[in-house]
Amino acid sequence: MLKRIDFVAQPGGRLAGRYAVPGDKSISHRAIMLGALARGRTRVTNFLQGEDCLATLNAFAAMGVDLQRPSDGEVVIQGVGLHGLSAPSAALDVGNSGTSMRLMSGLLSAQSFASVLTGDASLQRRPMRRVIDPLMQMGARIESNDGMAPLRILGDQPLKGIRYDMPVASAQVKSCLLLAGLYAQGETTVVEPGPSRDHSERMLRAFGYAVDQTDAVVSLQGGGELTACDIPVPNDISSATFFMLGAAIVPGSEVLLTNVGVNPTRTGVIDILRLMGASIILENEREQGGEPVADIRVRGAGLRGIKIPPTLVPLAIDEFPAVFIAAACAQGETLLTEAAELRVKESDRIQVMADGLQALGIQAQPRPDGIRIVGGQLQGGEVASHGDHRIAMSFAMAALRANGEIRISDCANVDTSFPGFAALAAKAGLKLAVEAQ
Ligand code: S3P
Repeated sequence: MLKRIDFVAQPGGRLAGRYAVPGDKSISHRAIMLGALARGRTRVTNFLQGEDCLATLNAFAAMGVDLQRPSDGEVVIQGVGLHGLSAPSAALDVGNSGTSMRLMSGLLSAQSFASVLTGDASLQRRPMRRVIDPLMQMGARIESNDGMAPLRILGDQPLKGIRYDMPVASAQVKSCLLLAGLYAQGETTVVEPGPSRDHSERMLRAFGYAVDQTDAVVSLQGGGELTACDIPVPNDISSATFFMLGAAIVPGSEVLLTNVGVNPTRTGVIDILRLMGASIILENEREQGGEPVADIRVRGAGLRGIKIPPTLVPLAIDEFPAVFIAAACAQGETLLTEAAELRVKESDRIQVMADGLQALGIQAQPRPDGIRIVGGQLQGGEVASHGDHRIAMSFAMAALRANGEIRISDCANVDTSFPGFAALAAKAGLKLAVEAQ
């Protein structure tokens, strides 16, 4: 049984200082997966030691891969090659991690052994047909609980490459199919309806695997090899977002977030906050391990409500809980549309955020594919995070602009993506306490 953790945030304060948030979650998962399947020794630095990425690491250890953690944030992987994994002796439990489950379902479909992927109650409610259907078209055999986990992957099936038109922009589905495609006969092609994060494509190339890309079409040929390399993981823009939010909503704040990944498929939150009037400057822009990084300086300013351009939705897909808090602090109305995907994240992020904002006295009207929020004075109150890490961290930052205490329940899952959040936020100026129930 997970211990129950509540966040209790006192109103007011302002953020200041220079901070390094933890390593990128998406890149950390992929570094473990490709390092395990490569030939040779891969060294990952600034690996995110959050529960989600550790679930991926443990799953590969359970399939016979030697993964050492000689120092904080360092993982040294002795790759076993694409055909070197061994059958796990039990179900692979990836906890809260949708990325682990969806990406691993692709490569497990191509193994000579059977496996079972399972996870926590939230993950067992999330849709998996989006990977099961195309994988079965490639020849995989997968049994599920009505399209949800546990997934029983029968393995021992030859896969063939397909061309797949993705119905929604999803990096997890795209990556799943590319990983299966490494083993498939012929070419695997994924057509995206809009750009989604391209960390898999970049990292496959870093491991020496050719990936073709023209506009929205990504493809690779099966039957190649991955060659080990070193992966320096940038800091996670999705974690930096909470500090960007906290600084942006309080005039007089200023934070510098160092060494943050600013891959253009991830920076939608910067564009949205700038459209709302935020002052965000990228400094010291450079490239690290095939990924663009920068230091991000944010200064507090008055924000205004906007209509969020739908093209930015996939580029800011994990950042909407924070964007909704910014909208609550802005002058006027913010409207989000074409974002139904938010209903199938770690929680139903449209409903859970609307409920939380209303509990704090803000007008928030959920819609099937988005939300309308009218900026106003945040009151103190109690908010249920429904075990969703990003909702918990967003409401904690809201206290900076509230006129009473905000209590947020069920925050243990913050450790899935941002271990140390409460301590770092308190150091930056948030009046946050953690209560273990
Ligand atoms: C991720 C892709 C996104 C994102 C998730 C991580 C990834 O999911 O929400 O947190 O690492 O590929 P979708 O592909 O479902 O949009």
